Amino acid sequence: MSSKITAAITGIHAWAPDEVMTNHDLEKFVETSDEWITSRTGIKERRIWTKPGMATSDIAVEAVRRLLEETGTKPEEIELVICATATPDHIFPSTANVISDKLGMSNAAGYDISAACSGFIFALTTGAKFIEAGMYKKVLIVGADKMSSILNFQDRNTCIIFGDGGGAVLLEPNYEGLGVVDAIMRSNGEGRHYLYQTAGGSFKPASHETVDAREHFVTQDGKTVFKFAVTNMAETAAELMERNQLTPDNVAWLVPHQANKRIIDATRERTGIAEEKTMVNIHKYGNTTNGTIPLCLFEWRDKLKKGDNLVLCAFGGGFTWGAVYVKWAY
Ligand code: UT7
Repeated sequence: MSSKITAAITGIHAWAPDEVMTNHDLEKFVETSDEWITSRTGIKERRIWTKPGMATSDIAVEAVRRLLEETGTKPEEIELVICATATPDHIFPSTANVISDKLGMSNAAGYDISAACSGFIFALTTGAKFIEAGMYKKVLIVGADKMSSILNFQDRNTCIIFGDGGGAVLLEPNYEGLGVVDAIMRSNGEGRHYLYQTAGGSFKPASHETVDAREHFVTQDGKTVFKFAVTNMAETAAELMERNQLTPDNVAWLVPHQANKRIIDATRERTGIAEEKTMVNIHKYGNTTNGTIPLCLFEWRDKLKKGDNLVLCAFGGGFTWGAVYVKWAY
């Protein structure tokens, strides 16, 4: 027992809609092929939520409701909700507050984090600090995106990559050194030119012209993003491992952001972590942006053991990137 407080993950749940869109389905919208998508990205299918009126908060609510039930947590016990998302329900108020309202988390402060695909890593790191500082005892970290709400299904460069989904973890104080042990967060604003949504913010408010020009969708220079992602995600994971004396042997799981199987493979090769210890579900969900890491943790949760060393890492628009060392707590 130590006097130092760490932020332990004491529960995980994730959720994605049932509706599957395969690579073959996409062949009907854009000039592409299952072979091209599979070989360039590793994606076979993704979930696209077509039910009218559903937003990112509804994805989160599905996950958080189950998380609260499973951990025996009453909604009013939650003190802080941080939601990482690139597809907030509204520009304001925050999606965190929408989630809190829908689930009756009436005592929770809430705000969103905008760090594109690195959002979950940034939110987890931020939430952990509130626990370590002793300010809160129950913090909910959400990572969720309804990417289909900003996808241009006429643009084969982007619409084949993304999908809908998300998840959440509960953070609570721990006195055995379990939970978030160390983290790295990095940004490079020059990257904003290569992955962005042009219109809808104060720079270019929505107008007939922005809608006609299809500027409310994701735009990406894939090659440039790939180049930065493949080196930065791998290097940051390696740096985090080195400074914590983590090795391919004592790491139980690599939990990489699922943007492209080739980026995941490069990170695995750089860190030396074996393929069978690397969480990969990109073939089923595509890139769910802030949802990828919780979707992985949830899918592998029965294999996780108390004390397991996990290396979480991500790279995203902005550019943003980072890695978190988590000691699994249960
Ligand atoms: O999570 C946030 C961060 N995002 C990422 O990490 C994404 C990083 N980027 C990537 O994963 C890859 O760059 C992509 C998967 C987006 C694209 O793969 P690529 O190997 O970089 O392809 P490319 O953009 O260089 O395109 C190669 C060719 C082009 O044709 P030409 O110019 O060689 O004739 C494209 O027009 O493939 C063409 N192409 C396609 N063909 C069939 C581009 N998209 C498609 C498509 N189907 N969907």
